[in-house]
Amino acid sequence: MLAVGIVAAAGSGLRLGADAPKALVPLAGRPLVRWAVDTLRAGGAAEVVVAVPPAERAAFAAAVPGVRLVDGGASRTASVRAALTVVGPEVDAVLVHDAARPLTPPEVVARVLAALDQGAPAVVPVLPVVDTTVLVDDGGAVVDVVPRAPLRRVQTPQGFDRRTLVEAYAALADDADLTDDAAVVRAAGAPVATVAGDERAAKVTVPHDLAMAELQVRR
Ligand code: C5P
Repeated sequence: MLAVGIVAAAGSGLRLGADAPKALVPLAGRPLVRWAVDTLRAGGAAEVVVAVPPAERAAFAAAVPGVRLVDGGASRTASVRAALTVVGPEVDAVLVHDAARPLTPPEVVARVLAALDQGAPAVVPVLPVVDTTVLVDDGGAVVDVVPRAPLRRVQTPQGFDRRTLVEAYAALADDADLTDDAAVVRAAGAPVATVAGDERAAKVTVPHDLAMAELQVRR
């Protein structure tokens, strides 16, 4: 099965407070985007395409040499859509990954690919919700408790049969902005399977997350 990776790396990363795009922020001396690309390759992606902020192409070319770059868009959905346009029809599977999840173990990528290989059109890595989870009103008061047993936290890389993903994006409104790609294929009616995620695939959003990732690398 020929699998290609897409890394969504065109976000600004304002919540991280860095003066560069989040994907270029170093973790143990390597930019986050480099970690994400290396994970996809180690897990089985034959090639990787990275969606980048258009003004930062040169910096990204230095951060991930030899990787195909495309100009990202105003939303994550637009960035993945742009990267998908350069994935050829010879490709069987597409793995869409966030640059913001640098320490995802390659085994997660391999689990996603194995599920695709067994015929799933779409696969996401997930983890259980361990905290009590509640609904609040506008004032912050708890109005209900959500049963947590059927809840899952969704990670990346998310894997797709290429044709399923391309057709789902084609059917999606140009200005749609969904938080992941599984939502795009579900909107088109395709079923989404799950495999086990990994706590190490945690998302780097705020400075604390980066500090935790640094500790993880040093262990
Ligand atoms: O902002 P957030 O952390 O949810 O973004 C998830 C991923 O989507 C990040 O890796 C970010 O670089 C990417 N992204 C993108 N294009 C955008 C916004 C976010 O590729 N316009």
